[in-house]
Amino acid sequence: MDGNNPQDPTHQVESARKAFEQEFGRFARFITTAELRLSLAEALAEESALRELKTRNLGKKSALAASKKLIGRVEPEARAAFGQLVQRTEAEIVKAIDQVEQRLSSYLETLRNERDSIDVTLPGRRPRLGHRHPITLVRERIEDIFVALGYAIEDDREIETDFYNFDALNIPQNHPARAPQDTFYTNAGLALRSQTSTVQIHAMQRRGAPVRMIAPGRVFRRDTPDPTHNPMFFQVEGLCVDEGITMAHLKGTVAEFLRRMFGPSTVTRFRPSYFPFTEPSAEFDFSCFKCGGEGCRICKYSGWIELGGSGMVHPNVLRAVGVDPERYSGFAFGLGIDRMCALMYGLDDIRLLFENDVRFLEQFE
Ligand code: DAH
Repeated sequence: MDGNNPQDPTHQVESARKAFEQEFGRFARFITTAELRLSLAEALAEESALRELKTRNLGKKSALAASKKLIGRVEPEARAAFGQLVQRTEAEIVKAIDQVEQRLSSYLETLRNERDSIDVTLPGRRPRLGHRHPITLVRERIEDIFVALGYAIEDDREIETDFYNFDALNIPQNHPARAPQDTFYTNAGLALRSQTSTVQIHAMQRRGAPVRMIAPGRVFRRDTPDPTHNPMFFQVEGLCVDEGITMAHLKGTVAEFLRRMFGPSTVTRFRPSYFPFTEPSAEFDFSCFKCGGEGCRICKYSGWIELGGSGMVHPNVLRAVGVDPERYSGFAFGLGIDRMCALMYGLDDIRLLFENDVRFLEQFE
């Protein structure tokens, strides 16, 4: 065989090897260099370039594959030597590519691990925890006190019929007591409740007598918002009906509630008043929790804070729910939670409670 003849099979193998060596030159550093400095994108590009080089030099259409097909065609005496040359050349190419492949793949793995690893020494990101609204805080304190006194908590609907909001509470059509409680009506003869007293009726219809319950909840009135009014606000209603309940029970219960709420030295006073659903009726005030009754800005220098209405449940209300007023008597009371909340936290505008400004709300708890 003549090594210089371009048609010579040996020459073909040699030129295939030369072509490979030339192409492979740029990958040699992956074997010789101790420390590689490539970005992940660069290393990935090298990996795919190597894959292409492999197909070109070892694939079905490579010069080497063509040389293999010649093995059977060389003269028998030269065949063994030629076959070995092809094999050796192939083995060398495979080995060279293998080395780079391994080096690249372990380098890529390191890069990926670095990218995905977490720095455990970094301070964690704390999830922002919410907390309860100031009105909820006050409501829950009220609930805890009454639950301890043996009262159940009733939760009821905010959309009502005239019957529950007015008639059953002894406020007939055209009664002037409806006027200050004008509310929001729907076309279907329903309205947003203007007072939590509605729950007295639901509770007695459901449970009959005796009954002891409080009902905190939202109420609505057609009021223009100002620092002391909002068209939606919160009340808590109280009702106790049993045999032999008197005004003394009312006064004792309200006084005990206020002592637990504002401290043992809190004094309560009752002033005669009028509500259609109670007879007799009284409004109650308590000695200012700030100045203890001496007079300050919170109590407007009167020493007293007005809190709510109360009275002995009117026999007509008991009759409306089928409770016998000859056998049972009871007391009821109602107070505004927002007002109490504003007083306790020294807010000069109750609208702050409903603006949902986190900078304001996060000051409580
Ligand atoms: N429902 C009354 C209001 O919204 C408050 C009230 C007064 C409730 C006297 C009562 C009561 O239970 O006995 O103005």
